[in-house]
Amino acid sequence: MTAVDVKFTVNGNEHVLSVEPHERLVDVLRGRLGLTGTKMGCGEGECGACTVIMDGRAVLSCLTLAVQAQGSDLLTIEGLAADGPEAGLHPLQKAFISEAAIQCGYCTPGMILTAKTLLDRDPEPTPGAVKESIIGNLCRCTGYDKPVKAILAAAAEMRAAARDAAATATGAERGES
Ligand code: FES
Ligand code: FES
Repeated sequence: MTAVDVKFTVNGNEHVLSVEPHERLVDVLRGRLGLTGTKMGCGEGECGACTVIMDGRAVLSCLTLAVQAQGSDLLTIEGLAADGPEAGLHPLQKAFISEAAIQCGYCTPGMILTAKTLLDRDPEPTPGAVKESIIGNLCRCTGYDKPVKAILAAAAEMRAAARDAAATATGAERGES
């Protein structure tokens, strides 16, 4: 088969790669770009371990061909923590640590990225909405209670940060110091 050139952005870095038409995105991310934070579990769309965010949507990279990522903007777990002056773990990553929601950790990158897409569209999810959102992310270790608590804690933290930022911006507009 003839290789195809694909161009996409991963965690803010642009890549142009020659891929085989049958190459899976998970293999390109892990094997060719060294982004092994994306986990390979079932390979059949059942476990969610391979979840990445493509153009704002959580996708299973084991069921996505690399050619389907043409022109897209991808986020893997490696790109979630902020760089530069805002450096630090994402609130979801911090909450998974503080709530002890990680055991073996194999499901964690996919679960956190799935949760990010939930919080991006619903900053104040109910516990039921959180549970529903991670229904495709299988975890053999935690029993799900702690990940759900962690996602709710991260949501609360992000709402508080947004309120603080809005208050600071309003104060700045009024010329308060
Ligand atoms: S490895 Fe992709 S869903 Fe299990
Ligand atoms: S922490 Fe082990 S599979 Fe979820």
